[in-house]
Amino acid sequence: MDVVRRAEVITVFTGAGMSAESGVATFRDVETGLWERFDPTQIATPQAWASDPGLVWAWYQWRARVVHAAAPNPGHNALAHLERTHSVLIATQNVDDLHERAGSSTVSHLHGSLFAPRCSNCGRPYHGVDAQPEHAVHELRVEPPACPTCLSPIRPGVVWFGEGLPDDAWRSAESAFTFADVVLVVGTSGGVYPAAALPERAAARGIPVIEFNPEPSALSAMASHSIRTPAGISLPALVDALDSAA
Ligand SMILES: NC(=O)c1ccc[n+]([C@@H]2O[C@H](COP(=O)([O-])OP(=O)(O)OC[C@H]3O[C@@H](n4cnc5c(N)ncnc54)[C@H](O)[C@@H]3O)[C@@H](O)[C@H]2O)c1
Ligand SMILES: [Zn+2]
Repeated sequence: MDVVRRAEVITVFTGAGMSAESGVATFRDVETGLWERFDPTQIATPQAWASDPGLVWAWYQWRARVVHAAAPNPGHNALAHLERTHSVLIATQNVDDLHERAGSSTVSHLHGSLFAPRCSNCGRPYHGVDAQPEHAVHELRVEPPACPTCLSPIRPGVVWFGEGLPDDAWRSAESAFTFADVVLVVGTSGGVYPAAALPERAAARGIPVIEFNPEPSALSAMASHSIRTPAGISLPALVDALDSAA
């Protein structure tokens, strides 16, 4: 891993597979229980919100609760540890907070966050207790709370399929991919755009891209190297190798 050892700036692009070993399901894993008959890619859409806001709100509340009860895995911890020796910027497609809880200091949330609900009309952040994961109700439909300012429904603070990405997260990710000495791509199928264009552009500029994914993905072809083991094993192994070479 000489290319990582020599790097000053490491940019990491993460997806749902990063959190799989924390018990947070990817969209392809089959859910069990209450939500097993729902397709997440159908719920994570503006159309679903327009036709059934109670269902969408309940689903995100449930996801927030799952994440809240989960803990960072050794892969998240290894990325946080990497900051001791390198400048590390994480651009994540994940809406969980496991990178932050592992101690990573610079995380751009390209697809928003489960923990930042806002008004669907005026956009003000919502901090009401009924949006907190501890208060999530185990129902298939939960009426979203109303905005204290304009009384419109509060929506999840995530980016749905077909929506634009948050400007600030996108801009900082773009610069992170421009100035990287190496890009690590972890646990993503690389099929969701425009996010997936970031590692593609880096590769096109000649920046080495190393993939960590047990399965081939849409980004494998442009990776200089692919490590086909779960991130909870491969990332700690990378950090150990760097530490012992130091
Ligand atoms: N934790 C979360 O926040 C979360 C969870 C599910 C879905 N999503 C959303 O779903 C969308 C789907 O795109 P995506 O590419 O992130 O996920 P995806 O579900 O399309 O792909 C997951 C990828 O992770 C790989 N993977 C599975 N287990 C792994 C492991 N232990 N280590 C390394 N890789 C592993 C799979 O082979 C697959 O390529 C994103 O927009 C994301 O916002 C987020
Ligand atoms: Zn409002």
